[in-house]
Amino acid sequence: MKTVSARIDGELITAQEGQTVLEAARDHDKYIPTLCYLKGLSATGACRVCMVELAGTDRLLAACTTPLQEGMSIRTTSAKLEEYRKMAVELLLVERNHICSVCASNGRCELQALAQSLEVTHVRYPYNNPRLHVDMSHPRYVLDHNRCILCTRCVRACAELEGAHVWEVSARGISSVLVSDMADDWGNARNCTGCGKCIQACPTGALVEKGFAFPSSEKSSEMIARISATRTIAHHS
Ligand code: FES
Repeated sequence: MKTVSARIDGELITAQEGQTVLEAARDHDKYIPTLCYLKGLSATGACRVCMVELAGTDRLLAACTTPLQEGMSIRTTSAKLEEYRKMAVELLLVERNHICSVCASNGRCELQALAQSLEVTHVRYPYNNPRLHVDMSHPRYVLDHNRCILCTRCVRACAELEGAHVWEVSARGISSVLVSDMADDWGNARNCTGCGKCIQACPTGALVEKGFAFPSSEKSSEMIARISATRTIAHHS
């Protein structure tokens, strides 16, 4: 297998050709925050939290979708990156209604954890306060649009691992919304197998299992990586 050499935070590393900056960084124990990326699923570069600096250019690059190339010099931390990541998280927080104290994922939410680690103690943008639907129609699960950050991890988990293609994002921009099947209630989605992979993939309290009062709902995003690895082995054997 071909390899490439590059620098990440000054350290010379060797990575497999085709690996992204994020994958190479993680292989060398370097932390880059992520939200829409989930190991085991394709990367979309939707949240912009994983931005890194590339020497010789002013452009910031999404580490999860940028292939590491020979000779690159990547910086994963700087005041500029910190500020950019903070802004990305703040914009997510104001877009919907992320009220942690009454959220089923309080204490286990990746957005909340990221906001804490970036020390987002307040937001500098006006809250949208949209009035969004909570879809309780599924017998086992709940979709709360108020908590959805449109990361599409559920969309990809359902399509790429379960092959059910229940989820999609409808509309554009601020009107974007997660929809199931033909934009009907989730309980009417005939393709839904009830497997729960979307629940496990969701980083927030947007998709949760019914019957768990906060903060007892358990999620395991590692499960997605394990299922994906099993499928890869099965394909190759
Ligand atoms: Fe890379 Fe979201 S994790 S853009």
